[in-house]
Amino acid sequence: MKIHHLLLLLSLAVVGRAQTELVKLEPIDPALEAAVRAEPLEVKPDEPLTEVQKKLSLRRVPAPRPSNIADFIQDEKSAIVLGKALFWDTQVSSDGVQACASCHFHAGADNRSRGQLSPGLLLVDSSGKPQPDRSLRIGAMIHQLAAGDFPFRRLSNPSDRGSTPIRDANDVVGSQGVRNSDFGGLSRTSGVIGEINQLVADPVFNHGGKNVRRVSPRNSPTCRKQLKKEKKKNS
Ligand code: HEC
Repeated sequence: MKIHHLLLLLSLAVVGRAQTELVKLEPIDPALEAAVRAEPLEVKPDEPLTEVQKKLSLRRVPAPRPSNIADFIQDEKSAIVLGKALFWDTQVSSDGVQACASCHFHAGADNRSRGQLSPGLLLVDSSGKPQPDRSLRIGAMIHQLAAGDFPFRRLSNPSDRGSTPIRDANDVVGSQGVRNSDFGGLSRTSGVIGEINQLVADPVFNHGGKNVRRVSPRNSPTCRKQLKKEKKKNS
């Protein structure tokens, strides 16, 4: 079972119980909401943030909580501890190798640099119809990224954005997860429960016909606050 399947199952379990009683989120402060609607949201790089924009920082916005959370979680403190443990637990993944932290290790972001290319799978044509590009442009599936690979779109004159591109690769540096496989049941080896997974030929994420880890069409996002903390720690 893939991590996101597990998450889906967990959320379905919650939704399943909540169907009879709609989950109500705590309301946003109405005065702040009105102010936000009246505010130009564009932040000018050289101008200080307005009072409303300062309040808009997600740091100040409490995570929305279902009003009936106590129906599902008996002991919130323990749930938070369990969540943190699960975040690092590679047993959560179908292959027993990946954890949430594999992709979110570096202050939430992913700084792995090998086998992290994803082709232009999200490409659409001018009418918005999906037109995925399944081939990599920058390198092979197992490519080790190097500084020279960037930028993927390279202009003949970097100071003129209208100049002719000398390279325009739609590859993405994403986050590698698990190999394409089907869930074939559970196994028990010396008391340890694992998954039986049957590899399924992957037309995109393969190298010389052998499945490689699939790569998301986006890199894991980061938390700037956490990054700042890490930078401080490392300096
Ligand atoms: C295979 C890599 C991978 C794994 C494993 C993974 N994530 Fe992610 N995660 C991503 C990517 C990529 C995104 C960004 C998706 C997007 O925005 O399209 C993301 C986004 C998120 C976000 C949204 C963050 C934001 O600022 O928008 C959260 C929260 C998150 N993941 C939590 C988790 C948790 C919890 C787990 C484990 C159960 C997990 N992730 C496992 C790659 C991964």
